Amino acid sequence: MRFDEKVVIVTGGALGIGQATGEILAERGAAVAILDWDDGAGFKACEKIREAGGKAVFERVNVANFQEVSAAVKKVKDVFGKVNSLVVSAGIQRYGTAVSTNEDQWEEVLNVNLKGAWNAARAVIPFLQEQGGGTIVNVSSVQALASQQNVLAYTVSKHGLLGLTRSMAMDFAKENIRANAVCPGTVDTPMLKWAASLDQNPQSVYDACNAMHPLGRIAQPREIAEVVAFLAHESSSFVTGAVWTVDGGLLTQIGGVPQTDAV
Ligand SMILES: NC(=O)c1ccc[n+]([C@@H]2O[C@H](COP(=O)([O-])OP(=O)(O)OC[C@H]3O[C@@H](n4cnc5c(N)ncnc54)[C@H](O)[C@@H]3O)[C@@H](O)[C@H]2O)c1
Repeated sequence: MRFDEKVVIVTGGALGIGQATGEILAERGAAVAILDWDDGAGFKACEKIREAGGKAVFERVNVANFQEVSAAVKKVKDVFGKVNSLVVSAGIQRYGTAVSTNEDQWEEVLNVNLKGAWNAARAVIPFLQEQGGGTIVNVSSVQALASQQNVLAYTVSKHGLLGLTRSMAMDFAKENIRANAVCPGTVDTPMLKWAASLDQNPQSVYDACNAMHPLGRIAQPREIAEVVAFLAHESSSFVTGAVWTVDGGLLTQIGGVPQTDAV
């Protein structure tokens, strides 16, 4: 799966799943543009790609701000001459129920996770149209298909991301623009480290996450990035509007433990 001559924009590409995606695409020949609000991590991620012989640029944006995203996407087009693919990995997690989530948290999560994806898509799609097609891959979550307790805004945003993905797949299919979503289970990234740090015993969070996946472990970022790369590549040319779980079997199992010796 080579990406020679391809230009790919990765939001949230400074860390975690987005960073791994940028690395894989660059290793396979793509010019990668990282759009992220973390300058330090963003420049480091770029440096790492360049040191390995790849092409990468960094643009600082808050994905919730369309003007910033649009200006960054135009710069990428100026630098690399075109845009072929968009990967949306920027996201944040906040905790709360329908009652305990406050307006600020709701807006923060929805603005980054959902509006941020729309912002990136509406900035990039005109450039994909110029190229006669392209791909969009949104990193959603298993929480787009099910939920846990106390993650209302996040769950809503990730469900919404599937709606965004499917709408775009329908609207732009005739122009050979494919939009797909991946729904990871738990992944070993800075986001998970942050979530675990909220617990008195962070290791117990990792242990519980490992145990709840039928494969017996959480994912490494590159295991998600490999699927993202496939969906961004022409090898997946007949896949659009699809939602792919990449969850170590998490959503396959029936919950609960039967109390019988027979199983
Ligand atoms: N880690 C997991 O277990 C897991 C599981 C399922 C889905 N996801 C989703 O995968 C995506 C990537 O998650 P991750 O675990 O790599 O997270 P991460 O926190 O490790 O990385 C997220 C990146 O997004 C950037 N970002 C966040 N808000 C931004 C904003 N407003 N503007 C620009 N950049 C911003 C961060 O700076 C960071 O570089 C997220 O959408 C997340 O919801 C993660």
